Parts: sequence; C-alpha cells; structure tokens
Amino acid sequence: MTTEEEIRARMKPGCICKGIKLHRIIEAIDQGAATFEEVAEITGIGGGSCNAKRCGRKVRELLQEKDRIEVAVKK
Ligand code: FES
Repeated sequence: MTTEEEIRARMKPGCICKGIKLHRIIEAIDQGAATFEEVAEITGIGGGSCNAKRCGRKVRELLQEKDRIEVAVKK
C-alpha cells in the first residue's frame, strides 16, 4: 500500500456501525486474517445494526483482491 492509499484508508470507514476505520481491516488482513470471522475477531467489526452487510461485503472484496494479487505474484 502506498502512503497515499494508507492515508485514504485511515480516513475511510471500515465498519460504520462500530466506527472502525478501513485501515484496521486492511492491517488485520495483512497480518494473516483470511476470513470475515478472523477479521472481526481482530478488529471488532460486525454485529452492528446492519448485521455486517456493509463491512462484510468490504472484507470479502479485500480478501478477493489479496487472493488475486497473491495468484499474480506466484505466476
Ligand atoms: S458496517 Fe459493520 S456491522 Fe454494520
């Protein structure tokens, strides 16, 4: 992640219901969290009024993006 992307991630919401920023989710994935449940355990996201519809979708997108990058790097 570039510095500019990191700054933007620090500003963006990750889990609106719990008030947790996007960068916390990205850090959890970078540290090895591979499922929504693992990210939720590390960051405290989920369980809000939307029942993780918003942050769950965001985490799935980030995990898929990480998988695509890892596959591309292995080729
Ligand atoms: S945005 Fe995370 S529980 Fe609603």
